[in-house]
Amino acid sequence: MGDLDGRVALVTGAGQGIGAACARALAAAGARVICSDLTAPDDLAAEVGGLALAQDVTDEGDWENAMAFAQREAGGLDILVNNAGLFLMKPLTQTSLADWRRVHSVNVEGVFLGCRAAIPLLAERAGKWGGGTSIINLSSIAGLVGSAGAVCYNASKGAVRLLTKGLAMELAAAGVRVNSVHPGVIDTAMGDEVVAGFSGAAGIGDNEARSLLAARHPLGRMGQPGNIADAVVFLASDRAAFMTGSEVVVDGGFTAN
Ligand SMILES: NC(=O)c1ccc[n+]([C@@H]2O[C@H](COP(=O)([O-])OP(=O)(O)OC[C@H]3O[C@@H](n4cnc5c(N)ncnc54)[C@H](O)[C@@H]3O)[C@@H](O)[C@H]2O)c1
Repeated sequence: MGDLDGRVALVTGAGQGIGAACARALAAAGARVICSDLTAPDDLAAEVGGLALAQDVTDEGDWENAMAFAQREAGGLDILVNNAGLFLMKPLTQTSLADWRRVHSVNVEGVFLGCRAAIPLLAERAGKWGGGTSIINLSSIAGLVGSAGAVCYNASKGAVRLLTKGLAMELAAAGVRVNSVHPGVIDTAMGDEVVAGFSGAAGIGDNEARSLLAARHPLGRMGQPGNIADAVVFLASDRAAFMTGSEVVVDGGFTAN
């Protein structure tokens, strides 16, 4: 018996990294997982016994399709993980309006569209579980503290943090919990982009940059995707029944310093 037996989850950006780890962990906890990404992650969906969906989170019509798909193929939706995201390392003076809009269209508009589309389905099934249904938004430590060279990303992840809290207030009475997760630097393709941006800004090699970034986390290492997935499974489950509007920091102590 898993904590999420009988539930249906949709994870965006599930093709790799944190999203793939979330899909695996949610499935291991008993959920039927819809794995969505720009290209349908067929292999992952087969591996976790779930469903694959091609979806651009910035496309309103794709969200309508995704909800119709969840209803038709899985009978509804209990958990939405808004995970798809883009990183940008550029000083603000070099950030074009196109850069700004591209990052915000995925990191902020994608989350807005996803939450809005999913609310009717989540509200419909909220009474089914002791802890209601759940939205989990991937923010970042960059949504809590500033990082030189990543102001556009900071702004987008800060927006996710308060979008989450505001929506938690709107949906509390409906039994839909909304929480954000704030990872430190995690060992994924995006983690590699962070390392490359840091090495470029500091004029050092990638290996040195990786060691310096690891050392900035008091636990002395970058995180693994599974560390984030564990928090996501917890928030999705009835064990987090009294948590809404929370910011769950999973950063090896980075922001406690
Ligand atoms: N890796 C880190 O260090 C780190 C730290 C803090 C927060 N995060 C956040 O965690 C989330 C996942 O990060 P990751 O490291 O796994 O990133 P990643 O780059 O490895 O994977 C991101 C996924 O999102 C998908 N994606 C991008 N644009 C999309 C779109 N328009 N529609 C649908 N899918 C799209 C990509 O195809 C990719 O599969 C992101 O929101 C990221 O900002 C990551």
